[in-house]
Amino acid sequence: MWRSAFLYLSTNGGARRMASGSSLAWRIASRFVAGECLEEALKASLELNRRGAAVELDYLGENVEDRRQAEESRNAYLRLLEGIASTGVDGHVSLKLTQMGLDLDEALCGDSVDEVVSRVDALGSFAWFDMEGSGYTDRTIETYLRVRAAHPNVGIALQAYLYRTKADVHNVLSAGGTIRLVKGAYNEPSTVAYPAKRDVDRNYERLAEVLLSSGSLQAIATHDEKMIQRVIEYASVNRVDHRGFEFQMLYGVRRDLQERLLAEGYRLRVYVPYGGQWYPYFMRRLAERPANLFFLLGNLVREAGRGR
Ligand code: FDA
Repeated sequence: MWRSAFLYLSTNGGARRMASGSSLAWRIASRFVAGECLEEALKASLELNRRGAAVELDYLGENVEDRRQAEESRNAYLRLLEGIASTGVDGHVSLKLTQMGLDLDEALCGDSVDEVVSRVDALGSFAWFDMEGSGYTDRTIETYLRVRAAHPNVGIALQAYLYRTKADVHNVLSAGGTIRLVKGAYNEPSTVAYPAKRDVDRNYERLAEVLLSSGSLQAIATHDEKMIQRVIEYASVNRVDHRGFEFQMLYGVRRDLQERLLAEGYRLRVYVPYGGQWYPYFMRRLAERPANLFFLLGNLVREAGRGR
């Protein structure tokens, strides 16, 4: 119930306008968002690098409403790539196609993605394509495969909650692609996605095994401790080198588990979002764990009490 409510709010314009102007909402959201500007995101990334984690930086934004916003997103990624190069951050970038104007003009979106990925190549970096709601899955995979044919330094997120993902995993792997396996963060009907969490988890585990057996570096993106343990055991039993895959987690989520994996010598990449358009991203984080809201509000009340 809470999950659906937060996911509904994530797409509600009125709630977005109200929260985006509220300093209280931003203080809560900033647990999951590295900052509103590039400099703050690079600083947070260097700190994560210092702890041993690589990063993937996401300039927040999605479903832009006009060409100017789409072009601004592309320019923000070009500035981000320069910032990564000039500060020496060990990091990739991660982008959404609707942020590049997929809803407005596919050609504009394709040109912007090509420009960003060409710069990624020139700098020897790597770009991930986030996966959005199921209405975009086909176009995201098609764009990914087209771009990848010319630029191998790209990866794509695939969502274990969709029935179709087993076939998509095989399709992307057979094209030599790189996958970030996630459970899936959007509101999807039971016609396309497993409604029961245990089925999503079961599918995630099966697909993670396919990735680990692929012989190439793939990403297991989850904070699910039991799942991570099963992945570690599968890798050990099947002699998959523990540096032959990477775990990925979100900024501000399960920092204890992040530290533990690093201490045990696993590769870890932290997804670092930044920018002014943090509202839908933040709502999806609340949907994953509604208790976050009460936990973070409690922290603020305690802080305010200490300040008195
Ligand atoms: P699950 O939801 O089962 O949670 C397992 C445990 O993790 C929880 O019990 C809790 O302890 C902890 N946890 C999970 N979420 C938390 C949160 N928000 N706050 C605090 N604790 C939390 N999705 C998508 O649709 N498209 C995409 O491109 C991406 N990209 C992406 C990148 C990376 C690096 C990650 C880690 C995740 C994504 N996701 C995503 C989000 C993903 O689909 C999923 O919604 C979240 O990762 C939550 O699912 P878990 O796998 O963590 O498991």
